[in-house]
Amino acid sequence: SSTWDNPIPKDEFLVVAHRGASTYEPENTLPAFKLAENLDADYIELDIQLTKDGELVVMHDKDVKRTTESEGKIQQATVAELKQLTADEKKGGEKADHTLPEEAYKVPTLKEVIEAVGERVHFIIELKNTKEYIGIEAKLVEFMEEHALIGPDQNGMPKVIVHSFNKRALKQIHKLAPNIPLLQLISFDEGEEAEVDEKEVQDIQTYAKGIGVTYEALTPAFVNTMHGKNLAVFAYTVNDETAALRLQAMGVNGIHTDQPDLLKEEG
Ligand code: G3P
Ligand code: CA
Repeated sequence: SSTWDNPIPKDEFLVVAHRGASTYEPENTLPAFKLAENLDADYIELDIQLTKDGELVVMHDKDVKRTTESEGKIQQATVAELKQLTADEKKGGEKADHTLPEEAYKVPTLKEVIEAVGERVHFIIELKNTKEYIGIEAKLVEFMEEHALIGPDQNGMPKVIVHSFNKRALKQIHKLAPNIPLLQLISFDEGEEAEVDEKEVQDIQTYAKGIGVTYEALTPAFVNTMHGKNLAVFAYTVNDETAALRLQAMGVNGIHTDQPDLLKEEG
């Protein structure tokens, strides 16, 4: 049998809290991340954006409109201005019930998140909008170096994985810091079966340790093929217990879920 040449474990089914435990607390906030940790998530997934004054902040959209009481582009705001805003919406636009004082839901910087959470749980950081944010790749690498986030923990698990749909951004990160494990995100349309042609697989192998894929498209054969190429397979975004169990049986390396307690609910 072939050897698994990859820092991401093959025999574990990692639970990744998508934007934190975002079913229960507003996405990409400290309460959502702390809850993910309390629910025993293995990884926390979050999205980063870059402010006008060069600070990495945690938000999914490049505009604050959907998730805060204000509007406008992060790119045009200073971190001090952003820190005035409260991230208070759950997915679907429904106002969140705050379980903690308002202050806890302020838009967090990446530094605040890493300092508040992450003792045990690790991170999958998504790079978005890299065309607008010149130099965000180098900024992230520098941040990870400063906070000793490159490399494995004492159990051999990568402390931070970076993923993106943007291949150019991932290649840039790989060039700057080849030890950061990367995942190429790939989306498939409804009804489509996952497939990546040989040339593309070979390219992905030059910079990434795996892929993150629309979960509905996954098949056991595809997962096996990717594993045979030493590529890990993550599935997003799985909020259905039956689907999660099916993916686990397929040997998928991990799932992104808004409910990190998804597999603990049966009574
Ligand atoms: O888990 C993959 C996912 O994070 C990519 O989609 O829009 O939730 O960032 P999105
Ligand atoms: Ca994301």
